[in-house]
Amino acid sequence: MKDFKGKTAVITGAASGIGRAMSLALADRGAKLVMADVKAEPLEAARQEAEVRGAEAIGVQTDVTKQASVEALADAAWERFGAVHIVHNNAGVLIRAPMLDADEKDWEWILAVNLWGVIHGIRAFVQRMLAAGAEGHIVNTASEAGHFAGDLYGVYNTSKFAVVGLTESLARELRNTPLGVSMLCPGQVETGIFTNTSRPDAFRRHGDDVPVERRDTDNAMEPADVAAKVVAAIETGELYVFSHEDEARALIGKRHERLMRVLDG
Ligand SMILES: NC(=O)c1ccc[n+]([C@@H]2O[C@H](COP(=O)([O-])OP(=O)(O)OC[C@H]3O[C@@H](n4cnc5c(N)ncnc54)[C@H](O)[C@@H]3O)[C@@H](O)[C@H]2O)c1
Repeated sequence: MKDFKGKTAVITGAASGIGRAMSLALADRGAKLVMADVKAEPLEAARQEAEVRGAEAIGVQTDVTKQASVEALADAAWERFGAVHIVHNNAGVLIRAPMLDADEKDWEWILAVNLWGVIHGIRAFVQRMLAAGAEGHIVNTASEAGHFAGDLYGVYNTSKFAVVGLTESLARELRNTPLGVSMLCPGQVETGIFTNTSRPDAFRRHGDDVPVERRDTDNAMEPADVAAKVVAAIETGELYVFSHEDEARALIGKRHERLMRVLDG
């Protein structure tokens, strides 16, 4: 997709971080926006920012862990704009702690948002977009953590490896259609993910929340720079989008070397 002017983009997790930056980047390209987030007030603030940039934008409070909520988001998008061209399944949450310290609710929450949120987005939008027949693009936010395991990332790794597999499969299924597919695989980005840990009651732990240990790095990227890479990938139809290419090359390279050692005997 080269031309975003007048096209409709749906972005989940749009109130903050990467989703907010994607919304603003697409606003700058003339897209109409359907911005979704579970948090109403920051969503409205982000929607107003997009509007200030000249975009027609609606905010739809959405819980991506629920299929019905994502279906309602799709209905709202088609009702308001009559078409959907870009869907960015981006909402995500993190716990950064040993998986053996995670309880059932931690697993359920991370998988419900990071994996089921993407599945719900695929199910609510893709068939309808194919039926409309227009050129479009699906972006799923995975992570560098979808390509290699890291200490303290067990639960998150599980969700993001699944998103990588899902997205590679989706790209195969859609290869002869007008819909392109990309997965965003960031390293550390300067967002609210380490502090936005408020979780819905359905996923409330019995005891205290496991502490989210912040990863300190001098290598964090600004969300706007990540969004620019995603926009470029939509334009070129590239499947993989990394924010930190050198870091990803080193870490993915190590994993592949190890696999090849085993396979080479
Ligand atoms: N920040 C990083 O370093 C980093 C690195 C790799 C991948 N990611 C991924 O990027 C994506 C965006 O995260 P971010 O870093 O911008 O974090 P963020 O916390 O700034 O934004 C995530 C947004 O998702 C929303 N959200 C959470 N649960 C939701 C739900 N059930 N339904 C709808 N919205 C919900 C939050 O309210 C928040 O506004 C996530 O999928 C995350 O896993 C982030």
